[in-house]
Amino acid sequence: MAQSIFERYGGFARVSKVVSAFYDKASQSALLAPYFENIDMRRLIDHQTKFVAFLMGGPASFSNEELERVHSRLNINDREFAEMVELFKETLEDFDFEASDIAAIQSELLTRKRYIVTRSGT
Ligand code: HEM
Repeated sequence: MAQSIFERYGGFARVSKVVSAFYDKASQSALLAPYFENIDMRRLIDHQTKFVAFLMGGPASFSNEELERVHSRLNINDREFAEMVELFKETLEDFDFEASDIAAIQSELLTRKRYIVTRSGT
């Protein structure tokens, strides 16, 4: 059976480096930074690592209901979601992920948009 994206790129050790680079970018984004100011970054990075691992076919999982529950009170709009997806794509490029793998991961993120975005407008 084909290896998952998660396995091909070095498992949790590598994924946690990707996630941490991604959060450096997010915290420097004027659009996204305000959301992360009062959050325990260590905890968030831990959770995001599991989620990203899941997107790549690794062992951890988050249900759509959980994603909806944690983001519902955050009032995230389309533009903020798009910025997050774009910064994540840039991060994967920085880590030399193949274009086809980036596309696969991105489409996994996009299918979850409705669980994250709760505010209309841009
Ligand atoms: C691209 C799609 C996204 C995915 C896959 C995602 C995934 C996650 C996950 C797995 C958690 C951790 C849940 C937990 O603590 O158990 C989380 C928390 C969080 N996310 Fe997202 N997220 C996304 C988009 C966004 C966006 C666009 C923002 C802000 C603009 C955002 C802001 C946050 C914040 C602030 C928390 C922490 C909530 C808290 O601990 O109270 N997320 N997200």
